[in-house]
Amino acid sequence: MLTLLKLLGDGRFHSGQVLGAALGISRSAVWKQLQHLEAELGLSIHKVRGRGYQLATPVALLDPVEISRYSAACAWPVFVFDSIDSTNAEALRSIERGVAAPFVVLAERQVSGRGRRGRKWVSPIAENIYYSLVLRMDGGMRQLEGLSLVVGLAVMRTLRELGVTGAGLKWPNDVLVGRKKIAGILLELVGDPADVCHVVLGVGINVNMQVADEVDQQWSSMRLEAGRAFDRNHVVALLNDVLQEHLSRHRSEGFVALQGEWENGHLWQGCSVSLVAGVNQVDGVVMGINGQGALRLSVGGVEKVFSGGELSLRLRDDS
Ligand code: BTN
Repeated sequence: MLTLLKLLGDGRFHSGQVLGAALGISRSAVWKQLQHLEAELGLSIHKVRGRGYQLATPVALLDPVEISRYSAACAWPVFVFDSIDSTNAEALRSIERGVAAPFVVLAERQVSGRGRRGRKWVSPIAENIYYSLVLRMDGGMRQLEGLSLVVGLAVMRTLRELGVTGAGLKWPNDVLVGRKKIAGILLELVGDPADVCHVVLGVGINVNMQVADEVDQQWSSMRLEAGRAFDRNHVVALLNDVLQEHLSRHRSEGFVALQGEWENGHLWQGCSVSLVAGVNQVDGVVMGINGQGALRLSVGGVEKVFSGGELSLRLRDDS
């Protein structure tokens, strides 16, 4: 189906015969695939007798050449997959095979997209960004401090620069518009964090998605927020540039240099929240974060500090 989409992607008319020959299938099989495209991607396809088929709106598929054309500063190699289990899983396999970092893995679709705390990340074809950046770290634990928050900050800045002005952060690394999630971040690490290790910075951004019945939380997309479709190659290029700049500041100055910017983008500053870890819950008011990216909560008037990937923050009704 993706090959068919690639053939139609230019927005021109293509006859059933030409499409069938290119795919090595019959014209009626082309017709079936076109119907799948319309149903699964919500695409509209013009059918004109004597001319063939045309996408109502051209679809730009992910393309490393286009990404580098858009990118001002970043030269990270980009590997694009049509369909994969998870870009994070592929990134980990690539590390294992000895591919030299930094590099980026992208996919048009993930069939086992991973979310935080064991959740699934819904990853329909050709609509969103499924992105994993691999970095080699040899600066010990300090280089990892606040890293996931830095990625969230870079994603938020990318979205805002592209016109999603309401994008903000929720500790530790969700990107929301209001209460709706628009992007998520999952870091995975191999090696010795105190010495040499590789970190996979996994980012999922809802870009052009307009319907997704399987998502089990409130969500939005760039398209729903800005009222227009986005070229994902452009979004990836800007994300690369912004991430590169933020990671370089983080590496040279530490998380503390980005703490203020992060807090300015935090949607839940001063809000009453519950912090949940398994069956345990702490209620408090968000004071901010510290220089390592840990959450500062006022609990019964006393400041307490929390960190850890398995923690989840919920708004309390009185905020
Ligand atoms: C979250 O639950 O908020 C984190 C979601 C992270 C999803 C991204 S999509 C690209 C990368 N590959 C994955 O399997 N997960 C991350």
